[in-house]
Amino acid sequence: MRKFSTIGIFLVVLLFNETTLSCLSNASTIGCIEEERLALPKFKDSFTDNTGQLSTWHNQDCCSWKGLQCDEIIGHVVRLDLGVNLNTPQFNFSARLGANEVHSCLLQLKYLNHLDLAGNYFNRIPFPKFFGSMAQLRYLNLSYAAFSELVPHHLGNLSSLLVLDLNFNFEVTIDDFTWVYRLSSLQYVALSFMNLSQTQNLHKVLNMIPCVLELHLSDCGLDNIR
Ligand SMILES: *[C@@H]1O[C@H](CO)[C@@H](O)[C@H](O)[C@H]1NC(C)=O
Ligand SMILES: *[C@@H]1O[C@H](CO)[C@@H](O)[C@H](O)[C@H]1NC(C)=O
Ligand SMILES: *[C@@H]1O[C@H](CO)[C@@H](O)[C@H](O)[C@H]1NC(C)=O
Ligand SMILES: *[C@@H]1O[C@H](CO)[C@@H](O)[C@H](O)[C@H]1NC(C)=O
Ligand SMILES: *[C@@H]1O[C@H](CO)[C@@H](O)[C@H](O)[C@H]1NC(C)=O
Repeated sequence: MRKFSTIGIFLVVLLFNETTLSCLSNASTIGCIEEERLALPKFKDSFTDNTGQLSTWHNQDCCSWKGLQCDEIIGHVVRLDLGVNLNTPQFNFSARLGANEVHSCLLQLKYLNHLDLAGNYFNRIPFPKFFGSMAQLRYLNLSYAAFSELVPHHLGNLSSLLVLDLNFNFEVTIDDFTWVYRLSSLQYVALSFMNLSQTQNLHKVLNMIPCVLELHLSDCGLDNIR
């Protein structure tokens, strides 16, 4: 009996220490970075969420929200993954999220390096410029997202970007490819089923990009590459 209570006290002391420690370190163990938690509801509210996918986006610990991942040490959100794969036979179109904007509050996620909004329906809104200000991004997947108009040259500011997937944005065009040359880390680029029929400097830049290992360009209207 006495032995058990000693163990009990020992456990209480251990637990107390853990709590004290996690209160001292403002990391994800106590939830998430407050500024990030307060910014994200604006992003959430711009969506029509038929299936309640974002219903976890309300408690104090934003690191536990569906699709969000925080770095265990610094506590900041590093991944936002709401991508859906339309290529599976069982895919249900009414299960994807829809929105008429991508709220620029995402810029508050200063450590975000992985952004996947693929397959969600953005109702042919112009391709947002502010993606080009998310300087930490290494992975950007906006395939099947139903954006329109021009890919902003601002994307050329993403010097850490390794993966850029814009496949199947049928109404998105690129006027001039020169900005892609500034993506000096790029390894994978997918621009299939976009409208590249009028794109200037495509051929020239593709020959100059240093480390692209994989390139997808089917059905982009490339009859005469210039
Ligand atoms: C597709 O999703 C919607 C919304 O969740 C649901 O009402 C509908 O029953 C689903 N259809 C099929 C075929 O699973
Ligand atoms: C923890 O909070 C302190 C004081 O507010 C701040 O200086 C520090 O950068 C924070 N640490 C992390 C990992 O966010
Ligand atoms: C982007 O997302 C789509 C849909 O989920 C997926 O099929 C594709 O493989 C992703 N692209 C990359 C480069 O990971
Ligand atoms: C990003 O790129 C745009 C267009 O290429 C440029 O005008 C702008 O100054 C750049 N912004 C930053 C913060 O580098
Ligand atoms: C492709 O974009 C050009 C403008 O750059 C436009 O004139 C043309 O109609 C578009 N083609 C398709 C199939 O949308």
